[in-house]
Amino acid sequence: MNMPSQELNQDQSTETHSPQVISISSGKGGVGKSFLSVHLATHAAAQGKKVLLIDADLGLANVDVMLGLQTSGSIRDLLNDNASLSELIISCKQGFDVLPGGTGLYELTNLNVTEQQVILDNLREAGKEYDLILIDTAAGIGDNVLYFASASETALVVLTTDPTSLTDAYAFIKVMSQQRDVRRFMVIINQTEEMDGHITFKRLLSVSDRYLDVYLDYIGYVPHHMDVRKSIQRQQPLLYDGSDLSRHLEKLFDTLLSRPRDNSRSAGLQFFWEHSLASSLDEEEDDNIESMAATGTTL
Ligand SMILES: Nc1ncnc2c1ncn2[C@@H]1O[C@H](COP(=O)(O)OP(=O)(O)OP(=O)(O)O)[C@@H](O)[C@H]1O
Ligand SMILES: [Mg+2]
Repeated sequence: MNMPSQELNQDQSTETHSPQVISISSGKGGVGKSFLSVHLATHAAAQGKKVLLIDADLGLANVDVMLGLQTSGSIRDLLNDNASLSELIISCKQGFDVLPGGTGLYELTNLNVTEQQVILDNLREAGKEYDLILIDTAAGIGDNVLYFASASETALVVLTTDPTSLTDAYAFIKVMSQQRDVRRFMVIINQTEEMDGHITFKRLLSVSDRYLDVYLDYIGYVPHHMDVRKSIQRQQPLLYDGSDLSRHLEKLFDTLLSRPRDNSRSAGLQFFWEHSLASSLDEEEDDNIESMAATGTTL
């Protein structure tokens, strides 16, 4: 008679042990993805979560620069067998781990399937150690961005009130929903005030509701603040020191982290990598079919 509840408990514990994987993307560049990724990682680590921040961005102020980290080697070194992932992952003093992407991670989509498999196997193993994996993606809707964002459990979209940022965020959501079948997005509006943040979110929601089949979850806004620029220039993340800005960020991140997990996509890196690989294999298959069709070769 005890069997069903034991089975349920086992199921639940398997579920809770898979890391939550969140990608941070934007459409337009320079809107604050890396700033938010680093501070979300810091906040989650302070709450006792084991966090890995994967830097899949080659922006100007990328994660290692923001944290003042010295990187050694690149993810590409895994392919030459002269590095292990643990040598590439850096523990930072804010209490979380960083995997600097370098060109290898940024160009992952350009590697062949065997090379991808080597990297993915390594990452899947390493990923099991964590509660939360954050992926700071590049701007835009390039293959690399879609690859990471579509394979995550949750896609967080960051934008500002700038109209081009709104258009680009919409383009990102549109491509993700229509080409990758991702339907749920969290949204943060950066560098604004409460009212303007709401208005911008309403605009994004209105156009998305009208043309797309998606669910947008407004997490909140982040004010424009001089301390952000200063902290990036100093290569020192903001401290959670009780200032208005730090309390605002803490509340925002608590809201984000308290959102229920998406059970349909919550298998952590297992899902993440297998899904990614499956889609690249599908694409290869599509290319084969396409070229066979073009040359008149039939099946
Ligand atoms: N809330 C804010 N208040 C003031 N300045 C900000 C804020 N958020 C971001 N910035 C400024 O915007 C710049 C870009 O931020 P960040 O590098 O995080 O953006 P990004 O989206 O990661 O850019 P990229 O697309 O190049 O990767 C930062 O150098 C910082 O000066
Ligand atoms: Mg960035």
